[in-house]
Amino acid sequence: MDLKSHIRGIPDFPKPGILFYDVSPLLAHGPAWKAAIDQLAEAVRPHKPDVLVGIESRGFLVAAPLALTLGVGFVMVRKHGKLPGDKVKHSYDLEYGTDTIEVQANAVAPGQRVVVLDDLLATGGTMAAAISLLRQIGADVRAAAFLVELTFLKGREKLDVPSLSLMAYD
Ligand code: PRP
Ligand code: MG
Repeated sequence: MDLKSHIRGIPDFPKPGILFYDVSPLLAHGPAWKAAIDQLAEAVRPHKPDVLVGIESRGFLVAAPLALTLGVGFVMVRKHGKLPGDKVKHSYDLEYGTDTIEVQANAVAPGQRVVVLDDLLATGGTMAAAISLLRQIGADVRAAAFLVELTFLKGREKLDVPSLSLMAYD
């Protein structure tokens, strides 16, 4: 299955000069989407996760079906202000300003093995922040996994866990 044929490059989004890699056609194609989740399952399974974490919002699309495939639980890392109850937060720098993500304080039991999912690895800032956040609640983060990696941005150099991706662009 040629998964890359289901990724669409859209020039000048969200800003002039940026080529946006859109995963929507992959999700919209039943057999290709199933193949992508099955391939990610093979890559993630050796890390023996107890729980998968998805990063809002596109990470949810990947982590939830993968958790079902692997037969493990699914936990949400959300943008601030969305989760009820006791939470832990982590702020990180963006190109302009900062952003904050949150997780429920008891979402992962201390020492549980976690693999974190997102659709795309660009600069790595989002994933690095999610890993820091999860460690605050005691998670044992074993790997980060993505559909797409923009290798020229060297995001994996920001991550101190193995980085798994199905498709790379440089
Ligand atoms: C995009 C993408 C990743 C992140 C990658 O999310 O889904 O989460 O950016 O960029 P980075 O590696 O440079 O941090 P975005 O913040 O656009 O939000 P969304 O998932 O809600 O669409
Ligand atoms: Mg995202």
